[in-house]
Amino acid sequence: MSDTSTAIQSTLVENRVFEPSAATVQAARIAGMDAYRALCAEAEQDFEGFWARRARELLHWHKPFTQVLDESNKPFYRWFADGELNASYNCLDRHIGTPREHKTAIIFEADDGTVTRVTYKELLAKVCQFANVLKAKGVKKGDRVVIYMPMTIEGVVAMQACARIGATHSVVFGGFSAGALKDRIQDAGAVAVVTANYQMRGGKELPLKAIVDEALGMGGCETVKSVIVFQRTPTAVHMEAGRDTFMHEEMAAQPTECPVEVVGAEHPLFILYTSGSTGKPKGVQHATGGYLLWAQQTMLWTFDLKDDDVFWCTADIGWITGHSYVAYGPLAAGATQIVFEGVPTYPNAGRFWQMIEKHKCTIFYTAPTAIRSLIKAADTDEKVHPKNWNLSTLRILGSVGEPINPEAWMWYYKHIGGERCPIVDTFWQTETGGHMITPLPGATPLVPGSCTLPLPGIFTAIVDEQGNDMPNGQGGILVVKKPWPSMIRTIWGDPERFKKSYFPEELKGYYLAGDGAVRSEDRGYFRITGRIDDVLNVSGHRMGTMEIESALVGKTDLVAEAAVVGRPDDVTGEAIVAFVVLKRPIPTGDEAKAIANELRNWVAKEIGPIAKPKEIRFGENLPKTRSGKIMRRLLRSLAKGEAVTQDTSTLENPHILEQLAKSN
Ligand code: WT7
Repeated sequence: MSDTSTAIQSTLVENRVFEPSAATVQAARIAGMDAYRALCAEAEQDFEGFWARRARELLHWHKPFTQVLDESNKPFYRWFADGELNASYNCLDRHIGTPREHKTAIIFEADDGTVTRVTYKELLAKVCQFANVLKAKGVKKGDRVVIYMPMTIEGVVAMQACARIGATHSVVFGGFSAGALKDRIQDAGAVAVVTANYQMRGGKELPLKAIVDEALGMGGCETVKSVIVFQRTPTAVHMEAGRDTFMHEEMAAQPTECPVEVVGAEHPLFILYTSGSTGKPKGVQHATGGYLLWAQQTMLWTFDLKDDDVFWCTADIGWITGHSYVAYGPLAAGATQIVFEGVPTYPNAGRFWQMIEKHKCTIFYTAPTAIRSLIKAADTDEKVHPKNWNLSTLRILGSVGEPINPEAWMWYYKHIGGERCPIVDTFWQTETGGHMITPLPGATPLVPGSCTLPLPGIFTAIVDEQGNDMPNGQGGILVVKKPWPSMIRTIWGDPERFKKSYFPEELKGYYLAGDGAVRSEDRGYFRITGRIDDVLNVSGHRMGTMEIESALVGKTDLVAEAAVVGRPDDVTGEAIVAFVVLKRPIPTGDEAKAIANELRNWVAKEIGPIAKPKEIRFGENLPKTRSGKIMRRLLRSLAKGEAVTQDTSTLENPHILEQLAKSN
């Protein structure tokens, strides 16, 4: 890569451009911008043919499809609907009998550094055994299984086993609380829960099974007939007779073969809950065929995956990134991948760099928030600076989950990529299933902080509130104009909300991403400017402000009212700030601190530690218009510590602004 221009006008207008080297282009699957444009043109001229060719080339179909896109019931699009396949077959069985049979599928590194490897053949045997366990428990095609597991081989095995028997999994991130877990189990109507006794993170043993017990004990989860427990650590946990059994004991009793349940392409592979603008999380439903196609295709395009790569996506399987780029994409593509149980800062903040060296990682995919925290650590402690490790095996870097600021981009490029590795800044969402807008490593000239251009076949655009195209340089609403195979199919149990949230009538039937964006004047490159709804992005995790607000007002002995907003944060991207009206006089000093702490811990207990407000401010009221509407824009200014410049003439109670401007 070479820096063809050096001037920076400001952080908003970014002029540095990094062209891929001739050697990178030559070796790439999509080699150069002309090749990229040719694929885009193919998709434009023959949309269905473009997707049909990809689907036939990349997936094994037990029954080939004859229809490609079915638009008869928009926006409930269907892809390859009369085709039949199995996701687990495509990820595992089809590598057997090929040179990939004995290839390492997963290099697992535990929190304490212990390494375990499994080949494709060994992984298939485990998946079959666990699929047989599920079947023995009576789990059938179409049943939902909740997976509440640490980052382990067994977590991937549980997902693949569900896919194998046609059960629809719903993975719940291990950081969610009992209440959040209960809501998801209940909404999905799960028949079984797969969990572990504990998880190991940063040298600490954290409970999982106890939280499952608590969730199931809350009532409303009567659909759950079995709980299968992976014994991650030797510590004993309560086991409910007749309901709970150990994964290893059950698996030992089962054969290592299990025929796949062939399903229709539209069969729901999984449901994954994500935050929206209301208090209730949305169960994003993905289909089998289209989803798997795109998970695999983007491995080949965005990461330019080669057979000898060692791929590492650091995301947890509890998020979409861990679905598409840990549990499905790498396996469908036959890659060797690293799965890491721990955290980037344990035993020290050099852990990622040490692991890249140790496992000779070639493609590294992580979140800006991790990069920013590791920059901070390296700045304060030489010993954890990446220069202490040999990172020369790396060839491609990736970023995901939130906008990456140009400073962090430059550090990542220089200190991790050795000014040699392209950075693919991949914009996508739980709902999109796979990458949407991203550079291609062997084609796209890179601009720090920009996710550049849509992938071939993906028709993103920036429009105004009526769906009219905006000219380059002018910000607007990010939409996708045409459907794509890995798109969300519906919100589990709530098709009306699906239509309303993603295909609002004003927008001409376009898919509404929920983000604002702007295209650069010169190249038409996309830059994401942030969510346009009441959704925050904290450390790459999506959080609804309403969810946090309803958790806060749930503390009925203390809280009368609460409003939550985001504030820019150097490390976490956005930080949560809560404005709270207590059912008692405004506290000061130590008392204010104690109550703020109590509320923070309450939110952690209600939703999970990721939802803890960074700051809580107290006031005797919230700023409201005369009609009673909370003025959130005003709160956002206050949270940032900005002077309030907005018009406050409609404000019912201007004096409370002073109270709320102060941190306690
Ligand atoms: C939201 C989706 C994509 C998987 C992880 C998050 C933001 C995601 C980027 C990026 C700027 C990004 C958007 C999006 N986002 N990637 N490369 N640049 N913003 O999935 O939890 O569904 O969140 O994350 O705001 O809407 P998610």
